[in-house]
Amino acid sequence: MANIVIVGTQWGDEGKGKIVDLLAADANIVVRFQGGNNAGHTMVVKGEQIISHLVPSGILQGKTCLLGNGMVVDPEVLIGEMDYLAEKGIDTRPEKIKISSRAHLIMPYHKALDQAREKKKGAGKIGTTGRGIGPCYEDKAARSGIRFADLIDPAGFREKVITVMDEKNFILEKYLGADPLDPEDVIATYGRFAERLAPYVANVSVLIDDGIHAGQQVLFEGAQGTHLDIDHGTYPFVTSSNVVSGNACCGAGVGPGQLTGIIGIAKAYTTRVGAGPFPSELFDDIGDRIQKKGAEFGATTGRRRRCGWLDMVILKNAVRLNGLTGLTITKLDILGGLDTINICTGYEYRGETIAHFPADLSILADCQPIYETLPGWSEDISHIRNRDDLPVNTLAYLNRIEELARIPVDIISVGPGRNQTIIVNHPFRQG
Ligand code: GDP
Ligand code: IMO
Ligand code: MG
Repeated sequence: MANIVIVGTQWGDEGKGKIVDLLAADANIVVRFQGGNNAGHTMVVKGEQIISHLVPSGILQGKTCLLGNGMVVDPEVLIGEMDYLAEKGIDTRPEKIKISSRAHLIMPYHKALDQAREKKKGAGKIGTTGRGIGPCYEDKAARSGIRFADLIDPAGFREKVITVMDEKNFILEKYLGADPLDPEDVIATYGRFAERLAPYVANVSVLIDDGIHAGQQVLFEGAQGTHLDIDHGTYPFVTSSNVVSGNACCGAGVGPGQLTGIIGIAKAYTTRVGAGPFPSELFDDIGDRIQKKGAEFGATTGRRRRCGWLDMVILKNAVRLNGLTGLTITKLDILGGLDTINICTGYEYRGETIAHFPADLSILADCQPIYETLPGWSEDISHIRNRDDLPVNTLAYLNRIEELARIPVDIISVGPGRNQTIIVNHPFRQG
C-alpha cells in the first residue's frame, strides 16, 4: 500500500492539480493539508477545464476528498465550489467530501484585513491573493481562530464572533481606515453556511487512519510551492502556512511513518505570481514567449505570471526540504521551439558561487544566476507518451535535471490533458 504526498517545488502553479487528478485514479482518499482558496488547481479532462480552489483535485475521479485541519476554509467559497462541481455532474455529497472539525474558518474580517493591509503597504505589498489567508492563520496562532467545530455550535459561535470582532473592527477602522463589519450580519450569514456544511464536518484524521487500516491508498495534495513556505520560502514574500511535505502529517493528522513517497512537481521553467525575489526571471522576448505559449495567468486571481528559466538552486532546495523521492516535470511542451534553453545551476554573489538559497533577501537581490546552456528542440512533443520517443535534446534536458537534482523524473507532462502524460515510474504501482 502506498500513501503519496504531492508538493510544489517552485512558487506554486506547477501543475499539481493535473497530477493529483491523474494519480487519484489509484488512490481511495485525496486530502488537502494546508492553504485555502489562495490555491487554484486546474484539471483538464476530455477537453473541459475545471479549476478547484478548496476541494481536493481527486473529486473528478470520484474519490473520497478530505479537507484537513491544516487548511483555512472560506465556507462561502466552498459552497460555491461544490455547487459548481455538482453542476458539472460531479458527486459532492457528504459521502464524498469531509471537512476537518479542526480546520479554521476564513471570516469576512480576514478578507477585509488582508485587503486593507495590502493597500496600506502600497508598493511594498506582498501581492497576496486577498482571500484572507494570512489573517486567518494569524488568528489560529493567536488562539482566537474559529473552527468548523465552532461553526456547528451556534451559541459558542455567536460568543466567539462577538469577542473577536470587537478587536478586528478596531484595527480595521482605527488603524487601517477601512469600514467595520457588523457581527450580527456575520453570525446570520455563517448560520446559513453552518446548516449547509454541518453534514460534511468530521474527524479527518480518524477517517484517514480507518482508510489506511482497511488497505486504502491516500494521496496528499499540497497547495502553493516550497518557496512560498512560511519557514523555507522567500520570507516575507510567502504564504502563511507550511507548504513542505512534513506538513502533510500535521495538516492532515497522520504520522510520518505512514508516508511512502513524496513527489515534487516542477514546471520545466519557473513562474511566480505576486511580489518577491525571482533570480532566474526573464524580462525579454523569451520570457514573453513562454508566458504567452504557457498561458501563464493565475488560476485564482487572473494575474499575469512572471516567467523565467528553470532554477536548480531552488529545485535542489525543494528536493532536500521535502525529502522528495521523485520529480514530475510539467509543461515541457511549452519549451519547444527555442534555439537554446538555460538552466540556472547556481548564483554568483560578489564574485563567489552560492549553491544554496540564502535566507537574507538583500543577498538574494544581489545574486546573479549562473546558467548552463543546452540545445533546444523544435518538435511538438505533446502527443508523445514514451520517454524514449522524446527528441534527443529534450531527453538531454531531462537527464541534466535528474543529474543535478539527484532524484529521478518519474512523470513527464507534455500537455494540460490527463492523457498528455509520460509515466516512467508510477508512485502507486511499485513492485
Ligand atoms: P497548480 O496550482 O499547481 O495546480 O497549477 P495551476 O493549475 O495553477 O497551473 C498550471 C497550468 O498549466 C494549468 O492551466 C494546467 O492546465 C496547465 N498544465 C499542467 N500541465 C501542463 C503541461 O504539461 N503542459 C501544458 N501546456 N499545460 C499544462
Ligand atoms: P497554487 O496551489 C501561486 C502567492 C500569492 C502571493 C503569496 C501570498 O495554485 O499553486 P496569500 O494569499 O497566500 O497570502 O499570498 O503567495 N500564492 C500563490 N502563488 N500559486 C498558489 O497556489 C498561490 N497561493 C498563494 O500570489 O505572492
Ligand atoms: Mg495554481
